[in-house]
Amino acid sequence: MKGVILAGGKGTRLEPLTLPTNKHLLPVYDQPMIFYPIQTLVKAGIKNILVIAGEIHAGQFVSVLKNGKQFGLDHLEYAYQEGGSKGIADALSYAEDFADHGPVTIILGDNTTDADISSPVKNFKQGATIFLKKVPDPERFGNPEFDKNDPQKIITIHEKPPKAVSPYAVTGLYIYDTTVFDIIKSLKPSGRGELEVTDINNAYLKKGRLNWAELSGFWSDAGTFYSLYRSNRYWAKKKLGDQYQQVVKGIAIPGK
Ligand code: G1P
Repeated sequence: MKGVILAGGKGTRLEPLTLPTNKHLLPVYDQPMIFYPIQTLVKAGIKNILVIAGEIHAGQFVSVLKNGKQFGLDHLEYAYQEGGSKGIADALSYAEDFADHGPVTIILGDNTTDADISSPVKNFKQGATIFLKKVPDPERFGNPEFDKNDPQKIITIHEKPPKAVSPYAVTGLYIYDTTVFDIIKSLKPSGRGELEVTDINNAYLKKGRLNWAELSGFWSDAGTFYSLYRSNRYWAKKKLGDQYQQVVKGIAIPGK
């Protein structure tokens, strides 16, 4: 299994933080944001990774990630998405040669999670697998609608609906077989002018080839101030453990 990290976009929602640097290099506690998705893939046994960068501060990735040896990667490759914010599905189209007719596990560069996706990755055979998570603000994400008679069955996925139809977000982790690249070629830009990952998932769904699993543990994106803060807080708390409260109060220093 190969892995793809999608790190395009302009990060406009996080300006002015994203004026001097790429969104995915902003700190999440003690690491640049993009380290977390890389570690999620490595934990799932994926050591061959493509990072797809957008036009903004794209060169900065190389000086931070280098050749990937620091993460235990066998191979780290970079691709460059042209044309600004043309969407997640457009960014993924740059992975076709890298995928080389095999399946790929994809993670968005601003998604951090401590979930272990090793077994869905190892057991993946064909079609698509998406990962859902219950969130307080599902209207901010891809939002699945379930069959009233079969609560396990997704009937469609809405991209950022005005009103959520279920408590779930479609997280930015996906496993696709090689047909994803033909699906992308058939997509039309959405109202916001982007090729939407939700349209990829709905195309698999229509063919009866979409599976889903619920992510266990923490998951958040980090594309807004509050989700970036939430991610920072979660990872600081997890890494500081019992010392967290004392460190925050300024009455202890980590490790002492
Ligand atoms: C994107 C996708 C959305 C998904 C989300 C996960 O949204 O379009 O379907 O739920 O990532 O982070 P974005 O926040 O990039 O607009």
